[in-house]
Amino acid sequence: MTEPIPFSQALRERTRSVHEESEGAVFMQDLMSGKGSREDYIQLLSQHYFIYQALEEAAAGLADDPVAALFITPKLTRLPAIEADLEYLLGDDWRDRISPLPTTFRYTARIREVGATWPGGFVAHHYTRYLGDLSGGQIIRTLLQRQYGFDTNGVGFYLFDEIAKPKVFKDVYRAQLDAVDWTEEERDRVIAEVGLAFRFNTDLFNDLAAAKAATIAA
Ligand code: HEM
Repeated sequence: MTEPIPFSQALRERTRSVHEESEGAVFMQDLMSGKGSREDYIQLLSQHYFIYQALEEAAAGLADDPVAALFITPKLTRLPAIEADLEYLLGDDWRDRISPLPTTFRYTARIREVGATWPGGFVAHHYTRYLGDLSGGQIIRTLLQRQYGFDTNGVGFYLFDEIAKPKVFKDVYRAQLDAVDWTEEERDRVIAEVGLAFRFNTDLFNDLAAAKAATIAA
């Protein structure tokens, strides 16, 4: 009999194609290749503000949940860094200058829903954002710094001061995913929810591209 593959590996493999779709979104490709602008990044970060607000509020509500609590740590908390970045990039009145795009509304509503009702679903959203930030996010930060002249101000979102070695952190996180006593059915549900989370991110890139096109046309 062959050994069943670890859950974290199945998760990664079964979401590879939705990851590639997200990665390939024109808005992101342009941002990373230098065809985008600082303003594009500011628009993306503004949406991240709403997404991480929902995610980190849900985390606070699940602090005592035996499964969710395995993954929740203040080392990952992003909201204060996003707030500082937006203040730096947009000024003191940054809160008045940002608003959620349609996909962000749907994405944050889903995070709040699973946060209130389904810890496994919350873990799916937690994994998709934070492990992404610790993986591709680090490449994205380097490119943003190179293409748009950022030092550390403005890109604090990607700087995890309390995680010296992202690889080690991610390995522990994956080991925790593998250690949870989920049924096969629950694992499938979690993988499906990660797929949904990726699609929200892809749709968000498309919303951002549409909003940019509308601004240019106006
Ligand atoms: C241009 C954009 C992106 C690039 C260049 C990129 C690149 C990468 C790379 C190189 C890895 C490491 C793969 C590995 O360790 O085997 C990774 C992992 C990951 N990325 Fe992305 N990514 C991008 C966008 C995204 C987006 C939009 C999300 C979702 C919000 C995301 C979520 C993830 C996750 C969850 C992982 C961890 C997989 C795991 O180790 O289990 N990525 N990404």
